[in-house]
Amino acid sequence: MSNIDQAGTYLLGDRQVRRLGYGAMQLAGPGVFGPPKDPEAARAVLREAISLGVNHIDTSDFYGPHITNQLIQEALHPYPDDLVIVTKIGARRDAAGAWLLAASAAELRQAVHDNLRNLGLDVLDVVNLRCMFDIHGPAEGSIEEQIAVLAELREEGLIRHIGLSNATMRQVEQARRIAPVACVQNMYNLVHRHDDAMIDALGRDGIPYVPFFPLGGFSPLQSDALSTIASQLDATPMQVAIAWLLQRAPNILLISGTSSVQHVRENVKAASLVLDEAALAALEEMHLAA
Ligand SMILES: NC(=O)c1ccc[n+]([C@@H]2O[C@H](COP(=O)([O-])OP(=O)(O)OC[C@H]3O[C@@H](n4cnc5c(N)ncnc54)[C@H](OP(=O)(O)O)[C@@H]3O)[C@@H](O)[C@H]2O)c1
Repeated sequence: MSNIDQAGTYLLGDRQVRRLGYGAMQLAGPGVFGPPKDPEAARAVLREAISLGVNHIDTSDFYGPHITNQLIQEALHPYPDDLVIVTKIGARRDAAGAWLLAASAAELRQAVHDNLRNLGLDVLDVVNLRCMFDIHGPAEGSIEEQIAVLAELREEGLIRHIGLSNATMRQVEQARRIAPVACVQNMYNLVHRHDDAMIDALGRDGIPYVPFFPLGGFSPLQSDALSTIASQLDATPMQVAIAWLLQRAPNILLISGTSSVQHVRENVKAASLVLDEAALAALEEMHLAA
């Protein structure tokens, strides 16, 4: 039996999800473009995550594009009642795989319909607007028009909750003046900690913060401190990175990504890993040295 419950739960929209979720981006082909080499292996990862108790999956129709959502539908539909699938819109891929802005009202509406079709859903649980003022990190710019479109789609019953990704605190506040914000998904991990203040501010309002690249993304985290603590705890460095996020703040929800059944199992096992003060202090060095 999985130990996932040891990580606890947190309210995402109107549903309590386990804090250890799964990010599906790694299931597409190389460069998040095209199909994976072994689609059945990708579906097996999704089924394993669910069997371990994961009930929060992060995805997007621009992973593949379309491929990741189709794999989710093939592997998991009809979906378990407690599963919350979070998708994101606001970008598109061109024929070469580049990530481009797609945030006009028509493009956002089309993206919601594409997600509904490729996931096999009548309504999307949570839709994050992926802010694209700077593709690599949050940058200021008005998202009023885009959030107004999402709020309309919510009133039409096509989406239940609105979230933001790659957003500044000012954009979160702007969005919240138009509609409730169910979650914020930005890059954050042991080394990349620009959002420390945002995490705490969102936590005070009961809003989940969902770090992307929690394990370092395409270049998984590596450091002597991480390896040393992992070996002291008889754990893997990635398990320590997950445990650190779980301890960092109660409103952090994990969506670690992997294309490996073995790694899903290892990542869920991090639910029971406890880092003591000495370990936390040693890990602090990673951020200070970055
Ligand atoms: N909003 C956004 O702009 C945005 C951007 C990027 C990602 N995301 C979301 O965030 C999720 C998480 O990000 P991510 O998947 O890019 O990065 P990640 O979770 O930080 O790391 C994924 C990398 O870590 C490796 N890995 C995972 N578990 C491991 C383990 N136990 N041992 C060793 N290596 C392990 C994976 O390789 P293997 O496949 O070999 O395990 C993969 O290379 C994505 O799936 C996606 O849903 C959102």
